Amino acid sequence: MDGTCLGFRDWKGVSIMCGIVGYFGKRNASEILVDGLRRMEYRGYDSAGVACLYDGQIGVVKNPGKIKALREKVDASELDILHKSTQGIGHTRWATHGLPNEINAHPHLDASGHFVMVHNGIIENYKQIKAGLAQQGIACVSDTDSEVLIQLIAYCYKDNLESAVSEALKKVKGTYGIVVMTDHEPGKLVAARCGSPIVIGLGKDETVIASDASAIIPHTRDAIYLEDFDMAVVTADGVQMFDLQHAPISREVTAMEWDEDAAEKGDYAHFMLKEIFEQPVAIRNAIRGRLDFDMGTAVLSGLDFSPRDAAQIGRVLVVGCGTSMHAGMVGEYAFEEMAGIPAEVEQAAEFRYRNPIVTPQDLVVAISQSGETADTLAAVREAKHKGAIVAGLCNVVGSTIARETGRGVYLHAGPEIGVASTKAFTCQVAVMLMMALKIARTRRLPRHEGEKLSRWIERLPDLVEKVLGENEAIKAVAQKYADHENAFFIGRGYLFPVALEGALKLKEISYIHAEGYHAAELKHGPIALLSENTPVVALLNNIPGKDKTLGNAEECKARKAPVITVVSEGDEGVADGFDDMIVIPDCPPCIAPIPTAVALQLLAYHIAAARGCEIDQPRNLAKSVTVE
Ligand code: F6R
Repeated sequence: MDGTCLGFRDWKGVSIMCGIVGYFGKRNASEILVDGLRRMEYRGYDSAGVACLYDGQIGVVKNPGKIKALREKVDASELDILHKSTQGIGHTRWATHGLPNEINAHPHLDASGHFVMVHNGIIENYKQIKAGLAQQGIACVSDTDSEVLIQLIAYCYKDNLESAVSEALKKVKGTYGIVVMTDHEPGKLVAARCGSPIVIGLGKDETVIASDASAIIPHTRDAIYLEDFDMAVVTADGVQMFDLQHAPISREVTAMEWDEDAAEKGDYAHFMLKEIFEQPVAIRNAIRGRLDFDMGTAVLSGLDFSPRDAAQIGRVLVVGCGTSMHAGMVGEYAFEEMAGIPAEVEQAAEFRYRNPIVTPQDLVVAISQSGETADTLAAVREAKHKGAIVAGLCNVVGSTIARETGRGVYLHAGPEIGVASTKAFTCQVAVMLMMALKIARTRRLPRHEGEKLSRWIERLPDLVEKVLGENEAIKAVAQKYADHENAFFIGRGYLFPVALEGALKLKEISYIHAEGYHAAELKHGPIALLSENTPVVALLNNIPGKDKTLGNAEECKARKAPVITVVSEGDEGVADGFDDMIVIPDCPPCIAPIPTAVALQLLAYHIAAARGCEIDQPRNLAKSVTVE
């Protein structure tokens, strides 16, 4: 057995598509576990299972496939344990090591059958540990990296579960969020975290552990977020926290702000549609109490810098991935235009690896809905290391990026369950505009201009409401184009990032090959692809550059490409001669990305729906990308 500590502080990202839930209390554990797993279904998974402990025995039920099948299997089980237990653990697995079959599904038992565990993450040195276990005559039955960890915990066990867990974790290289129990010590659950979130919900006479808030909010709002290398021991006496040396530590109890309905689909066909329609409320929540009309500025106390600090910022660097990066691009334009401050946006993975030049005068804004994206988190660490002022812009309260940046702005958009980001994007843009406004007012933006902008930001929910009123018209356009296999989106200025975002939305949920381009870029290559089979969505809102984009749209038309125009209300004439038109309210350039993005979200949604796609869980996609 290799007994060396393998440098587990070397943080690496891990996929948290998998879901963990644990229950300790007085109610039927299996019901609560299966319901918790159902609430985390949106993350994507291919097998699921639960283990319960009752009367000194462990019972496990697992299944490849959907939670519904697991529920049926649990209900039909003849194991008394599953129907009487008030303590257990559950898991949804997204296969990494080994096929999605029953053996590889979690929970995993050790060889003796006395220890059981669920694990999110990747044990990087599992082969080494497995070989060491084999030398001790301990054989693993699954192909997973996870199983070796429970075998190792059992091997390390003397008479105390948490000591065995901490002993085993010192030998592990990689990432984990785990919950473990043993029938040697009924009445105890042990959870630990390194790089994969674990939240402990503290209810009345019960404790719910999960990797995702959605499994906890039906039971309680009081929660402890584990930090890396924390271990929590749950017993009838409550929750005790330890570090990996088994020394007691204390962690703050925080209030989770999301309510239960927010994580339910209600009457909507999909979470994505619900979240598109929630945007007026979400944006209202994102801007509530944050606009100061008298001073024509924004109040973002979480940024924790004074006007003097703000005035000293020399440059803004925005880092993020995917949709969040697109929101950052809108922010880049706003920082430069309003505050006259150099701004750049960079894909977070690129930022972390290219040894960027960062100075203490730089404000680095890490933008991430989940607050867990591996590359964005690594960019935060790199920027902090280089002495920059680092702020987070996150939706998930208590997420790793929010905690590590220590300063920033929460979106308050409520849980975003649909894998394709919608309300988070528009709230990110709204918050970016407020950040730019705040910094701009410490510089050259006059008060009356600041007030004008604040008033427009205040109107955003109404503008979005108007676009939502066009839902049926947009659906009709979508149905005309649902059979195409390629599409282009073009825009300029503030609408260039929106063209990128519109294409991303379409490709991820409809599987149509879609590309977003700066309208001027078409002629530099992509125009070669245009034909009657490649619709082009041209963002022709009434903002500077419209006439040039109009010219580019004409060029597309001349190549027989069908053109769908997005135009400002009152300016419908620009759509003459093109194939279809989506009308959005007229508004200033920096405001236009939000209503325009909402129209493109609806377009993508209805195209995907017409194609019968799995909109909330598109193939191959995870809600949180915590691998590199
Ligand atoms: C696309 C989408 C992704 C995310 C990206 C970053 O609809 O949701 O592109 O925006 O994975 O995720 P966060 O914002 O959680 O860092």
